[in-house]
Amino acid sequence: MIEVDRVVSTEEKAEDLALEPTVRPARLRDYIGQDRVREQMDIWLSAARKRGKALDHVLLFGPPGLGKTTLATIVANEMGVNITTVAAPAIEKQGDIAALVSKQEKNSVLFIDEIHRLNNKLAEMLYSAMEDFKLDIVIGEGPAAQSVTIPLQPFTLIGATTKAGGLASPLRARFGIVAHLEFYDDLSLQKIVKRSAGCLGIAIDDGGAMEIATRSRGTPRIANRLLRRVRDYAEIKADGMITRQVANAALNILEVDPKGLDLMDRKLILSMIDMFGGGPVGLENIAAAVGEDAETIEDMIEPYLIQQGYIQRTRTGRVATERAYSHFGRTFVKDAQTALKL
Ligand code: ADE
Repeated sequence: MIEVDRVVSTEEKAEDLALEPTVRPARLRDYIGQDRVREQMDIWLSAARKRGKALDHVLLFGPPGLGKTTLATIVANEMGVNITTVAAPAIEKQGDIAALVSKQEKNSVLFIDEIHRLNNKLAEMLYSAMEDFKLDIVIGEGPAAQSVTIPLQPFTLIGATTKAGGLASPLRARFGIVAHLEFYDDLSLQKIVKRSAGCLGIAIDDGGAMEIATRSRGTPRIANRLLRRVRDYAEIKADGMITRQVANAALNILEVDPKGLDLMDRKLILSMIDMFGGGPVGLENIAAAVGEDAETIEDMIEPYLIQQGYIQRTRTGRVATERAYSHFGRTFVKDAQTALKL
């Protein structure tokens, strides 16, 4: 049987796990940013609690590191129920789904990360589990096969995905609550950095927190990781206090540039400019050029660069924008501009 409690999202690195349990907000009131999602969740949670019913199923969309797992944990805490966390690629057979849903207690939360990677046949098993809280399974094979229906406790399925279009529509339709998480603005990230520093006993001033915030690609997971690295620098190279100057010096050593772009971001944009004349270039070609797989580029690297206007997706491929050229002090090539208008 699947080892439910030991399965951790592939997005989650060991260092996050070491750091984040102590800085992750446990309640909605401590969750910073994503105002629209937070306000809506507050209403749906209050209503479910008042009725003593399970919260409707929730689908969380958004790039990695924006707090999907954190939100799922908060939902369980706010409902006062247990949460089971599992990454979809670890669910391999019918029996895994059966084990997961049949162990749910009244109103508890089942969190399936990367739900777009769930195999279709297994996703189909979730339909009646989600809709009618019953599980239809076939036992045995051939003429001796028998269909059994197992009643389930009402529960909340929370699915998280980085791909908006990656879910079969019947599955998508069974989520009553759909929330899109956006990249965080600098002020929200600054608050998160200060809060995390408080949790970890790190001395930081507003300038230091803002410097980390603006260089974290709009992503709390990155902000929390950089905070820890900058703390190390501050302890060894300064008096332990993170000021703007200390953060700036540390982030330069970490090769995070003033706009928050890291080595991979720069490699990607520069390869588009230098090897492909600014584009349009297909994802697979970029992937080969930078030595990264296409899915990682599409799900983890590109979304922020698109949101910040460094690259665009067009019908004919990816294109580096004028902003990308000027960030690297290059002269904008007209051909690329033409491609943008296609
Ligand atoms: N840590 C990570 N994400 C957070 C958030 N949205 N609010 C507060 N702390 C966080």
